[in-house]
Order: sequence, then C-alpha cells, then structure tokens
Amino acid sequence: MSANRDQWGSRLGFVLAASGSAVGLGNLWKFPYITYHNGGGGFVLIYLGCIALIGMPIMLAEILIGRRAQASPVPAFEKLAQKVPGQKKWGMVGWLGVAAGVTILSFYSVIAGWSLSSFLQCMDWSINGYEAPAPDDFGNFLGNGPLQLGLTLVFSTLTAIIVMRGISGGIEKATKILMPVLLAILLFLVGNSFTLEGAGEALSFLFTPDFSHIKFVAVLEALGHAFFTLSLGMGAMITYGSYMGKKDSILKAGGAIVVLDTLIALFACIIMFSIIFSYQEIRESVSGSTVGMLFITVPKMFYTKMALGAILGPVFYILVAFAALSSTISLLEVVVSLLVDKMEMSRAKATLLSASGIFVVSILCALSLGANDFLSGFKVFGHSESGFFAALNDRIFPEKAGILNLLDHLAANWLLPIGGFCITIFVGWFMKTEDLVDELDLRDENGQPNIWFTIFHFCLRYIAPVAIGAIIVAVLMGWKDFA
Ligand code: PHE
Repeated sequence: MSANRDQWGSRLGFVLAASGSAVGLGNLWKFPYITYHNGGGGFVLIYLGCIALIGMPIMLAEILIGRRAQASPVPAFEKLAQKVPGQKKWGMVGWLGVAAGVTILSFYSVIAGWSLSSFLQCMDWSINGYEAPAPDDFGNFLGNGPLQLGLTLVFSTLTAIIVMRGISGGIEKATKILMPVLLAILLFLVGNSFTLEGAGEALSFLFTPDFSHIKFVAVLEALGHAFFTLSLGMGAMITYGSYMGKKDSILKAGGAIVVLDTLIALFACIIMFSIIFSYQEIRESVSGSTVGMLFITVPKMFYTKMALGAILGPVFYILVAFAALSSTISLLEVVVSLLVDKMEMSRAKATLLSASGIFVVSILCALSLGANDFLSGFKVFGHSESGFFAALNDRIFPEKAGILNLLDHLAANWLLPIGGFCITIFVGWFMKTEDLVDELDLRDENGQPNIWFTIFHFCLRYIAPVAIGAIIVAVLMGWKDFA
C-alpha cells in the first residue's frame, strides 16, 4: 500500500461513504423518471429482482476485491489475477470502469447542477411567494447554455475540491450528518404525500405488476439502473472497499447499502407519483419532460400542500445536491485513485488533471439539452431511417438523442452491465472459494462455508452472469417482448 493512500477514519465510515456513493441522482432523479416512462409496477418488480439476484452479489464481490487487494481497480485486478488465466489482462476490467466513471461523471455533474438552480428557485419562492412555473419554463432552462455551463462548473469544482483534500476528513464527516437528515426529510415527505388524493393511484401504479408493455430493452434498462444506482460495474465499490479495514463485515456493510439505496428510490417514487397523480396540469407537463420530474414536480407539493414547505423546499434541494455530491466524489475518486496508485501522481495533480479533462466532456453534455442543435440531436450511428446502422442504433440507443442522453444510456445500459459481468466471472469462477469465505467471514460452526455463502456463490457464478448475458443478447438480437 503506498504511503499516500487514505483510510476511512471509522468503522462506520465505509458504510456511510459507500451509501453516499450509491444514494444520489440515480435514486431521486433517474429511478422515478424511468419507472414512470416504463409503466410502473412491472418495471419495479424486474428492477427489484435485478437488485436482489445480481446487484447484491456483485456489491459483495466488488467490496471484497478492493479490500483484499488494497488497491484501486486496475492494480487490484492485476494483483488478484496473478495466478488466473489472462493474468494482467484482467486489469482491462479496471480500465473499462475508469471509462465508465468518466462517462457517468461528465453528464452527472450537469444534472447535479440542476439541484443548485432548484435550490435558488425555492429560496426565491420562499422569500417572495410562490408563482407556478409556466409549462415551457423547464425547456427554456435546459436550453440556456451559459446557465447550464455555469451550474455544471460550480458542481464540478465542488467535487474536485473535496476529492483533492482526500476523503476521510471531508466527505466521511459530512455524510454522517447528511444521510440521516436526507432520510428523515424523505420520510416526512412520504408521510405528507399520503395526504394527497393521488396517493392511492401512485401506490397501485408503483406496486401492481403489469408486464403487458414491458419490452426487452426495458429489462436491460432495469438491469443497467440496478448497476447505476448501486454504483456497481465500474470499480467505485472496489475503490471504496480498498480503504476498508480488515475487521469490518462486508456482508453487513453491503447489505445496509443495498437496502438503504432501494428504500430511498422507492420513497422518491411514492413522493413524486403522488404529486403527479394529484394534479392534472403536472400530469400533462410530465408527459412532456419526464427527465425533469424531480425538478418540476416536487416544488408543487412544498408550496401548495405543506405547512412547512417554504422551509423544507430549499432544504430538500440542498440535500439533493449533497446526495449527488457524495456520488460525484466517488466517481472522480475512481479516476484519481488510479492516477495516484498506478502513475504515482500526487493527489492534487491527479485531481486537477482528471477533473478538468472530464469537465470538457461535461461541456458537450451541458449544451446538448437544447442550447446547441448539433449536440442536442446527436446520434452515434447517424440519422439513417433504415438499414443496418439504423437498426443498430435502435437496439443500442433506443429513443435517445443528444450527447447527455447518449452517454447516460451508454454507461448505464452497456458499460456497467459488461463491467459487472466481468466481475462476476472473475470472483465467481477464478478467485479461490477459500479466500472468498475468509473475506466474507461466512462459515458455520464446523468451519465450512455456510448457507449464505452458498447462495452468494451460486448467484455470482450462475444467476448473475447468465441473466446479464441473456438480457444483452436479447437486446442485440432485437427481441422485443418480454412477457
Ligand atoms: N449510484 C449513484 C446514484 O445513484 C451514481 C453512481 C454510479 C455513482 C456509479 C458512482 C458510480 O446516483
């Protein structure tokens, strides 16, 4: 372990920071909008299946790789693969993760910037009185290039400053306070949303499984989102696990992260759908921009249906910003830790270099929401209406255009599942069972692997790789209906 490697300051530190990485815009912004877009209950059930059978085992596998190797993903794979076929080539899985991290961070910072603008908007409403936004306000906001760039720059700078300082002092302390406050406010909002007339409809939309409209691409989206929301498939959890103490329980930590992340995603849906189903005009505007749901829908409840709304409104968006920040930190940390561990760069130099490189891609994303026509309409395989490339486009990037959407789709639905697939193969098939049982500390009284280990190992060896492989093949073959 090199001298400038940081360590979590407390036993709880890892769980908090890793939950901070997992809980973010994926839960509050993305999950509600893709769930709405994909018709609710059926999609939610598929997503929960992906979390339990694929997400949870890969979470444990990633933490385990990091803690065992005590190194960031590329050197971690190289170190653990010494006696494995392919040897150093496994480091490429780490590089794939770095590519995914760069891709995600570049568009994530743009969306995270929206929370800053919503905070300012709420402050204004709290002070000067609420004025319902006009239907095209959000579209205008998206199309405002300088504003998008400015917000993204502020957010990227905040991320870089914290990562540059190392993580144990800043982010660990901050998440200790922020995560419980976020959870408390979300619970309060859930309670409040039950008083809205649309609550019943929201719950049945969310929890009544209906597979009649589910296509295979939606299954890929659920799988990809399971990876995205748990920060899996790209080495974030490997990196965080590498700073973890040997005595801490990987199973307990991993389990806590997965449960917390899933609950927060469902809470966010309950809150948002209750509001949407209560107001006709919101229902109409949502069908125009599901992407902006978190930023358009929620303020309505604060300012029309809640006694404390004028206070909770701004506080809520500050927390959204912090939830996003604890995720962007982990994304940047993957790239920085690679430069520090592998290239022996100083943390300051590594942070500056990677943050500014990623910001350049963020610029393209920030301008792809309407400010620049070329970037906003950009499709990877051109615009042909028919033929091979058009078919390929529809399979790999259905309904997506614009750089930001493209990168989101590419990372979540392709890079992360592929990275996750490689991790399951590596840990499930190539790491020694004995070593895994040791790391996870899953033995019965006789010192044999216990039932939990057997379940974990079975999921990792068979269920996860077969499911990921099958879903990817189904989408590439152009198979459509799932039900
Ligand atoms: N899990 C984060 C979220 O849900 C996003 C993220 C993905 C963070 C991958 C780190 C790595 O918002």
